[in-house]
Amino acid sequence: MSGARIAVLASGTGTNLQSLLAHFAEHGESHPSAGHVALVASDRRGAGALERAARAGIPISVVRSPRAPDAPPLAEVLDAHRIDLVVLAGFLTLVPGDVTRAFAGRIVNVHPAPLPRFGGSGMYGLRVHRAVLASGEPRSGPTVHFVDDVYDRGPAIAHWPVPLLAGDDDHALAARVLRAEHLLYPRVVAALAAHRVRLHADGRVSGQFAGRELPRFDPALPDSVLAHRLDEALAR
Ligand code: GRF
Repeated sequence: MSGARIAVLASGTGTNLQSLLAHFAEHGESHPSAGHVALVASDRRGAGALERAARAGIPISVVRSPRAPDAPPLAEVLDAHRIDLVVLAGFLTLVPGDVTRAFAGRIVNVHPAPLPRFGGSGMYGLRVHRAVLASGEPRSGPTVHFVDDVYDRGPAIAHWPVPLLAGDDDHALAARVLRAEHLLYPRVVAALAAHRVRLHADGRVSGQFAGRELPRFDPALPDSVLAHRLDEALAR
């Protein structure tokens, strides 16, 4: 296998990990330079994401965190697996500064709401969606951004607006935003792996997603149609 060696970091069930694996399995052969998932690491023993990875035959590791104080530090594990690109997918531990500095422009996260308004320490899980519902905003949607040493602060790469619907509760909104994440995140990661997205020293982001209008996220459409429209918009 060739291309970027990608590490996915996850604390939870890892549905984003699953969507990344599915995307790379489907498109990897036609674009081998896009890279592959070479490691899945978690700050939590027993995270569902580790089980998913093990089932897929991908190397797994637990890394040091308040929940796993005796595990090896993240920097050491990334180094041992010769990782080029770090992808956070529901990773709840703050990434240490040595890692964010070493991987500047090569470490990304997906957040399930617009940033910076609905992000920051403690803004994860259903709390994010409750805050959006309470704000009266008509839209939410995932934001993919570069990671620095402050939660949810790094420069944004892509945001896909997702409408709120009448009668929404936190669970319904979370599920709708997660659908959009599963479509958007693998495409951003593939673009990064293929050097089609760049972070500049002044914090500017250029490349495939910069200034590009994404197709409307219509929740009534099947994923296959949304994926096709997204690919068409990105190919323009
Ligand atoms: C997603 O909502 C993502 O936006 C956030 O954490 C959640 C991870 O979900 N950063 P999963 O473990 O990928 O299902």
